[in-house]
Amino acid sequence: MVAPMNPMLERIVILGAKGQLGADLLEAFADVKPIGIERKFVDVEDADAVAVMMRTHRPTLVVNATAYHQVDLCELHPERAFAVNALAVDRLAALCALSGSAFLTVSSDYVFDGTLGRAYREDDMPRPLSVYGASKAAGEMLVPRHGPRYFIVRTSGLFGHLQSSVKGLTFIERMLRMAEEGKPIRVVDDIVFSPSYTPHVARAIRAIVESERFGLYHVTNAGSCSWYEFAAEAFACAGLQPDFQASKTDPKAGYVRRPAYSPLEGAAMREAGLPSLPDWRDAVRDYVTHRAPTARS
Ligand SMILES: NC(=O)c1ccc[n+]([C@@H]2O[C@H](COP(=O)([O-])OP(=O)(O)OC[C@H]3O[C@@H](n4cnc5c(N)ncnc54)[C@H](OP(=O)(O)O)[C@@H]3O)[C@@H](O)[C@H]2O)c1
Repeated sequence: MVAPMNPMLERIVILGAKGQLGADLLEAFADVKPIGIERKFVDVEDADAVAVMMRTHRPTLVVNATAYHQVDLCELHPERAFAVNALAVDRLAALCALSGSAFLTVSSDYVFDGTLGRAYREDDMPRPLSVYGASKAAGEMLVPRHGPRYFIVRTSGLFGHLQSSVKGLTFIERMLRMAEEGKPIRVVDDIVFSPSYTPHVARAIRAIVESERFGLYHVTNAGSCSWYEFAAEAFACAGLQPDFQASKTDPKAGYVRRPAYSPLEGAAMREAGLPSLPDWRDAVRDYVTHRAPTARS
């Protein structure tokens, strides 16, 4: 007998479908034919466009992978950061609750200040340092008031095969290209985080949805590293030996405060009986192995 389909999977809308994570979410749900929506068709800041989208598609699950996440621009334009990362999330959650759809939104380790000295669990108190982090924390806080059928997925240090339309090349791709071009490379070793490979994160999100256990989840690759260790692993996997040294963050450079130690522990996934994601080193190896040949030219 064929198991009945989880009703949440019937009509999935993925917002931010052209983004790094959005593209892999489309892939992870491909068999149930999700509707991927780009910003040029629905801007989540546009309440009318979002309402029309909800009426047209009658989703059973809305996955929000949009964000205004250039942290320096968020400091300059806090109203934009809060419009996309908080108010639009609030509106989506409200419309989902009204129409009977479940809602999933993606958040960030930047809701934390990085001073705890251990990996953050889901029940640790957010204390953002930046406008970006505050706007993501506000988005998280606005969702539950619309009812219990939501998932909030915090992730960190995303890297995938699609480059970000706003940030350009991902960190790992930039490192590999600089190494291939023989450029000297300096990378900070005093910021520690959990790298998160978008194909792995997207598959974990699908598993969380299928569990039907609503709530807040930390979803990253297992383990943690500094940006220096992350780059070193990429070079080792690619067989590159560049002129490469560790450096320290310059407190005078830039005005955005970032958490210095923000690995995320996936306690909620464990409690739901879901497998943890592969170690970050395996994710880096997979990235390097499946890197598009054009990326190397
Ligand atoms: N990148 C990271 O390291 C990281 C770390 C932790 C958490 N996150 C979170 O993970 C999620 C996905 O991030 P990502 O790295 O995949 O970002 P991304 O590659 O920049 O993708 C974001 C997508 O959202 C779209 N978008 C932005 N503003 C929109 C709007 N107002 N209306 C509709 N669509 C809009 C963008 O469209 P356009 O390209 O047309 O602007 C883009 O396709 C975000 O919630 C982010 O905060 C990211």
